[in-house]
Amino acid sequence: MRRKLVAGNWKMNGSRGALAELDGIAAAAAGTPGVDVGIAVPFTLIAPAAERVPGLTIGAQDVHLAASGAHTGCISAAMVAEAGARFTLVGHSERRCDRGESDADVKAKAEAARRAGLSVILCVGEQLAERDAGRAEAVVAEQIAGSLPEGAAADWLSIAYEPVWAIGTGRTPTLADVAQMHGTIRRQLAASIGGGADAMRILYGGSVTADNAADLLGAADVDGALVGGASLTAAKFVPIVSAASVIGG
Ligand code: 13P
Repeated sequence: MRRKLVAGNWKMNGSRGALAELDGIAAAAAGTPGVDVGIAVPFTLIAPAAERVPGLTIGAQDVHLAASGAHTGCISAAMVAEAGARFTLVGHSERRCDRGESDADVKAKAEAARRAGLSVILCVGEQLAERDAGRAEAVVAEQIAGSLPEGAAADWLSIAYEPVWAIGTGRTPTLADVAQMHGTIRRQLAASIGGGADAMRILYGGSVTADNAADLLGAADVDGALVGGASLTAAKFVPIVSAASVIGG
């Protein structure tokens, strides 16, 4: 059985004052040993977060694909690891869409993160027009085919399915649609990496809240959640961790 993973993504939110929210999240994580919990904070908060709550897994939201060099304003995987991050997101739609990141970029970022010793949550997901055109599964399959890193394995890599139209909108796919997409992703992973696909966690992301977490986390092939807005406070995030614990802990 796959352990549930509930990861928060603070995006470009938070300040040192907001780190107090991590106290409650860390306490909940410690109290639910059957669930893996992580929070991806802005780069500037990685070190203070890791120092404040050493027991909580802190992550980054992106890394550069190169190890070092003339890339003004960018941050390498080794840098976030040194600051205290233990995982990173790659391929979030807000980077694929807003920053023009390609599948090849995302693949290289995942591989760079792995070389720096980070775990990786690789994000994929279709836009609304693509779903409306009946192309959701094809789009996600193409993203996975292009961005799955070399050496992909469950002990360092998870996939997050985040339909772009569900992010920050309060809309979610039907549970049947989530289960179907996650099943399709798992079959594609099996075709790519073989038996190791059984152990790889596939998270759902997009408007996950305390109210819908139990349903979404209970859907077939859903092994956790990637949570944006509801990860910003312990009051909203801890119930999602608890829901994962009841289902899979
Ligand atoms: P919301 O939970 O705010 O919809 O964001 C989801 C997301 O993009 C997490 O990476």
